[in-house]
Amino acid sequence: MENILEKVKKRIDIPVYKRSIENVLSAILANGDFWNIVALSEEPLPLVAEIIKVLEEEGLVKIENNTIKLTEKGLELTKKYGISKREELVCGCCEGRGVSIKQFSDILEKFKEITKDRPLPKHEYDQGFVTPECTIARVALMHSRGDLFNKEVLVLGDDDLTSIALMLTNLPKRIVAVDIDERLMNFIKETAEKLNYKNIEVITLDLRKPLPESYAKKFDTFITDPPETVYAIRTFIGRGISSLKGERCAGYFGITRRESSLDKWREIQKILLNEFNVVITDLIKDFNHYINWGYEEETRAWKLSPVKKKPEKIWYKSYMFRIETLKDSKGFEEEVNIGDELYNDSESSTT
Ligand SMILES: [Fe+2]
Repeated sequence: MENILEKVKKRIDIPVYKRSIENVLSAILANGDFWNIVALSEEPLPLVAEIIKVLEEEGLVKIENNTIKLTEKGLELTKKYGISKREELVCGCCEGRGVSIKQFSDILEKFKEITKDRPLPKHEYDQGFVTPECTIARVALMHSRGDLFNKEVLVLGDDDLTSIALMLTNLPKRIVAVDIDERLMNFIKETAEKLNYKNIEVITLDLRKPLPESYAKKFDTFITDPPETVYAIRTFIGRGISSLKGERCAGYFGITRRESSLDKWREIQKILLNEFNVVITDLIKDFNHYINWGYEEETRAWKLSPVKKKPEKIWYKSYMFRIETLKDSKGFEEEVNIGDELYNDSESSTT
């Protein structure tokens, strides 16, 4: 085990621990598909790819018919170290989200109908949207926490079209949606017109720039889904917090394990607690399920994957964070002058 760890460490600048190797072995015992192994192991994709490469070189793993399997020697190793197959054990009723969307079943149907002709994800903006069930579950979650009814809600980046789901519930007093992609903004505007819904504004904006002054301290709730770099997290979530009215307002965002190591998670949590002075109230595993975005072959993940086979089922999921502001919480208002680093770091792979 030690020599595997040392070999991986030398080749990659993502933090790797004995536990990382165990997680990957555990995932391989459960599943032979690369994308599922990444999902089950909960280690960053580039790290999983490197670990599998080393395991293969050591004769512990073999790849046949696009399937990753442990060899006899590999199985012996798992026995020696007491590693068992990883079990998911997700609740079948709520897909593990802990909220029921039953109350919103009509809205789910309407949402599906409206969004069937939606603009498709664009690689250049790191887009990839969640399932309709997930969007509605977000609405249910926010409602269950008292963050929607009669509230002013800001959606920062809306390739999931959460603002459309929010319009359909008629719960918020006001909705503002911001995105860099004009196609999405037009789609949301047209939908609002068709629904004759008046309490929505859409703004086309690159979030490297701050929100217009008139939107500072105006909202009760924000939701965003930032790219997974520390820069993007500070910028997107910080802008969300700056837009909140003051204390005891709420923010929602997704963070994944697919593109962020736990070391990065700690950096993110430091920003939340030390820089922004907010509190994490909810953290729900694999709440957000992203539909395979269609441009897989253009991604770094594809290049790194030891198997050139598209994912068959949803493998990209993220945890849902809910934060609340308290006394002395503050956000981030500066303009950031960064290019590609907003979307990419050594752990990212879907950009
Ligand atoms: Fe459940």
